[in-house]
Amino acid sequence: MISAVERKIEQYIAELDDSHVKSLYSKIPHGKRLRTKLILKIAGSSLKVIKTAATVEMIHAASLLHDDVIDEAYQRRGKASVNASDGNKTAIMMGDILYSKAFFELNSISPEVARVISNAVVQLSLGELADVELSKKFHTNRDAYLKMLYQKTASLMEASAESAAILVGKNRQAYKKYGRNLGLAFQMIDDILDITQDSTTLGKPALHDFEEGKVTLPYIYLFESLDEKERRFLLSLHRKNLTQKEAEWIKSAMKKHKIIEKAYSEAKELVDEAIELMESLGERDLSNIAKAMIERAF
Ligand code: FPP
Ligand code: MG
Repeated sequence: MISAVERKIEQYIAELDDSHVKSLYSKIPHGKRLRTKLILKIAGSSLKVIKTAATVEMIHAASLLHDDVIDEAYQRRGKASVNASDGNKTAIMMGDILYSKAFFELNSISPEVARVISNAVVQLSLGELADVELSKKFHTNRDAYLKMLYQKTASLMEASAESAAILVGKNRQAYKKYGRNLGLAFQMIDDILDITQDSTTLGKPALHDFEEGKVTLPYIYLFESLDEKERRFLLSLHRKNLTQKEAEWIKSAMKKHKIIEKAYSEAKELVDEAIELMESLGERDLSNIAKAMIERAF
């Protein structure tokens, strides 16, 4: 049924009646459609559900177009990002078009779903702003980092699951919590993969987070485990293009202090809670989605 969502997005794009936008959209790789999977598994495949998934995916795509401009990232999902291939102005406007068309369509689904999703986009934007601020200098503020993670990534997954529950009259609080935990764990694992995977597997440069200034949980934990001299060295690498040797130093320090295991177990705790919740509701497929996510290679 994911194909019904793809067709709905294509229909929305076609309605814009703009060949440039159509050709730009066709160049953007789709990704895993995780939010669609959650929505369809929770709510089946009525027209309203398909429309909700389509609007969420368009908002997600818009946010990544803007994010790649903000992060000056030139690769997305193994391909040149739109800002790299067509420039920042085009990437920003394409994001605005996807985002506003999604909002226009959202109005015809349900006022409550529109409320939940539009609030998530406010959170998304606040999260991105916080991410930019937190990346300016090295910090060890775990709470601020987790709040930003919730806003930037978990809020839209939370809203997707909650909206799906609203559409079919399921317990919205339970599904909201499931989406939140999954979203948080997803981003935590993303942060881990940035350290453990090579760039070919990632589809973007490896160890890029720290180079960009992002002090993710593993870096906060690493800092806490290092002695004074090592701390100074880690600080000297922040927001800097890393040499092979410096990258190796970070990786081996992470290994020595078992940082990846610590960060991974934190993500796993959130996923386990989500699995337990879904098993108690008899939602085997949703609990399997959570299991698959925590088992992503790393
Ligand atoms: C990726 O984070 C970024 C997000 C999940 C959210 C970005 C949100 C906005 C730009 C604001 C919302 C704007 C609109 C138009 C809806 P990341 O950089 O940590 O992950 P990455 O490695 O995948 O780039
Ligand atoms: Mg980014």
